[in-house]
Amino acid sequence: MTLPTSIDVIPTGTVGAMIDGVDIAAGLDDQQFTELREAFIEHGVIFLRDQHITPDQHVEFAHRWGEINVNRFFRPVDGHPLIAEVRKDPGQTRNIGADWHTDHSYDQIPALGSILYARVVPPTGGDTLFTNMYRAYETLSDGMKDTLHRLSADHSSRHQFGSLANIEGDTHDIGTRLGNAEAATQDAVHPVVIRHPLSGRPALYVNSDFVLRLTGWTDEESEPLLAQLYAHAVREEFQYRFSWEVGSMAIWDNRATLHVAANDYQGELRLMHRITIEGEALEPFVPA
Ligand code: SIN
Repeated sequence: MTLPTSIDVIPTGTVGAMIDGVDIAAGLDDQQFTELREAFIEHGVIFLRDQHITPDQHVEFAHRWGEINVNRFFRPVDGHPLIAEVRKDPGQTRNIGADWHTDHSYDQIPALGSILYARVVPPTGGDTLFTNMYRAYETLSDGMKDTLHRLSADHSSRHQFGSLANIEGDTHDIGTRLGNAEAATQDAVHPVVIRHPLSGRPALYVNSDFVLRLTGWTDEESEPLLAQLYAHAVREEFQYRFSWEVGSMAIWDNRATLHVAANDYQGELRLMHRITIEGEALEPFVPA
């Protein structure tokens, strides 16, 4: 017997869907959670509004998605070590997540996704943009796809969060929010085109924050092809721009999307809480 659907899923265009009919503080029954997870798999990112949750409820909700993968470099929320604080104070100029990326791709087993919850938002600006990495793959030529199926890329955390990133010397700005440089030792090789572990669909899997080069290629050889793929992946028609309100939540799939945080709210506070969920090892997409 098929149960009637219990939540509303309203697609937001090429990527994402707005969810209605869910109150996380009140709790979700199994049917609602199954539908939410299906919407996440289908649309790559889901958005919820007007959620009024405590940090403990955020953690409890995250546990339904899987094990929590604690970010090594973000400052944790006071008293809640499983939640990373994504903050920009009025006197700070740089924001976290300012370039298109996917979270934790430097891990050998990259995170499934992240659950970002808005606590304080600026009066205007501070949106997050998402792009659809299935569409990015599907719209490449057959010749390019054939080439990419054979390639992997080297990802690393070292240049972004390690001592070379000079984060800890920066006491005014980003260094007060990111740290733990000695823990930035992660290197990983992932296929350039993955078979998505949940949907089975091919997705492009490169991002300019954490990819160093194509595996077995020099930096110089890699740079033009990677630059072309990065530009292609974020074509406007693959994107959706989400405007936050206090109590909004976005749950994104790190294997199906990239995201970037707009930094257009200087002089204002923006405070978000993020929990990242463990994923699974990524396999290459092998065409039939
Ligand atoms: C992130 O990159 O995880 C944060 C995105 C945001 O603050 O909008």
